[in-house]
Parts: sequence; structure tokens; C-alpha cells
Amino acid sequence: MAQRVIVVGGTGLIGSNVVHELKGDYDVLAVSRSTSPGMDMEDPASVQSFFDRVQPFDHVVVAAGEAAFGPLDQLDEIALNVGVRSKMLGQFRVALIARRCLPEGGSITLTSGELAETPIPETAGVAFVNGAVNSFARAAALEMEGGRRINAVSPGWIKETMQRMGMDPSPGMAASDVATLYRRSIEGTANGQVITP
Ligand SMILES: NC(=O)c1ccc[n+]([C@@H]2O[C@H](COP(=O)([O-])OP(=O)(O)OC[C@H]3O[C@@H](n4cnc5c(N)ncnc54)[C@H](OP(=O)(O)O)[C@@H]3O)[C@@H](O)[C@H]2O)c1
Repeated sequence: MAQRVIVVGGTGLIGSNVVHELKGDYDVLAVSRSTSPGMDMEDPASVQSFFDRVQPFDHVVVAAGEAAFGPLDQLDEIALNVGVRSKMLGQFRVALIARRCLPEGGSITLTSGELAETPIPETAGVAFVNGAVNSFARAAALEMEGGRRINAVSPGWIKETMQRMGMDPSPGMAASDVATLYRRSIEGTANGQVITP
């Protein structure tokens, strides 16, 4: 029987490409706030009841989470909290709850972003969250036992996103190529790694 992969954010740009990348080889379930069954990773009860309902599963990918772009002058606690509640605590929550019912050999893959290591102006509200996700994966990996693993995929700018924002997409990476990094996390031996293109 095919292993089961839960893709949180599976209706979004990266997540839908991860679903497409994996669906021939795995039983893939995409989830977001707008699916049924759904999950809001900002809500602990929602995350818990989702995993209670869909287990057993073998792997979890999170390709979801918001954070606030903008100049430092406008970076107040409200803006910082967007990333803390969504991309940071939301992903940590999914990882911690999913880990409780992750089988031996199972994996959790979170999503950060290259701004953690190579920030540009007006990205402090995003960069610190990406850095936290990378640090969480590195440290949590030390306590994953039984061949269980956790990694973070750290994509750079994605072509489709750059196009949507009116930017030159040529330096970007296609979302379909980024999706292969998630396969690498699921199928390889990496644990506590920040997987970059
Ligand atoms: N695109 C890029 O260039 C890029 C580069 C580096 C890193 N990243 C990171 O990659 C992640 C995904 O990016 P994307 O471009 O694929 O975003 P996207 O197209 O906006 O998709 C986001 C997905 O997450 C879901 N989602 C949002 N909030 C959620 C919540 N609270 N609970 C559950 N699901 C939630 C959305 O569905 P619903 O709205 O239905 O919940 C959607 O499926 C983000 O964390 C982003 O920062 C993106």
C-alpha cells in the first residue's frame, strides 16, 4: 500500500506542486483552511482534530504560513505577529502534534525561505520567521527517534510568484522544481537539514 503524505497548504502554489510531484507514488492528502477535512494551523484544536481524523499517515509537508513584508519603520508588533502566529507557531504546532502519531521512518518537512540567510531590505518581518523555522528543524531533529526525521525546505523566490508580483521571473525557480526538494526530504536520510535548491 502506498505511504500517505499530508500536505498542509496543498492548495497553494508550492503545496499544489508538491501534491503533483508526489501523487503518482504516494497517497497524498492536501489540506488547508478551505478543504474538507480542513485545518487552520493557527488553531491548536483544528490541528489536533485534523490529525486525529486522518491518521494513520507516514509523512507531513507544511507549505503554508504567512509573514509580513514591509519597511522596518512600519514593522510593529501587529506586523511581527502575523509571521509568529502563522508561519512560525503554525508550523511548529503542526510538527509537534503530527510527531505524536508519526510512525517509525516517517518525516515532517517544514518551509522556511532563503530570506533567512540572504535578506533584502523590507524583509525583516519574514526573515526572522524563516530563521526560526530552520533552527526549530535543526534542534527538533535531535529528538526524533525510530528513523523519524524533520527538515525544512528553504526555497528562493519562485518564478510564478515573481510573475504575479510584476517582477522579472528569470532569477526564480519554477514551483515544480521546488517541489522536488520536498520529495528529497521525504525519501532521503536527511534529518535536521535545511534543504536549499
Ligand atoms: N512563493 C514563493 O516565492 C516563496 C518563496 C520562499 C518561501 N515561500 C514560503 O512557502 C510557503 C508557501 O508559499 P506559497 O507561495 O505556496 O503560498 P500560497 O500560494 O499563498 O499558498 C498558501 C497555502 O497555505 C494555506 N494556508 C494559509 N494559511 C493557512 C493556515 N493558517 N492553516 C492552513 N493552511 C493555510 C493556503 O490555503 P487556505 O487559504 O485555503 O488556507 C494555501 O494552500 C509560505 O510560507 C511562503 O512564505 C514562498
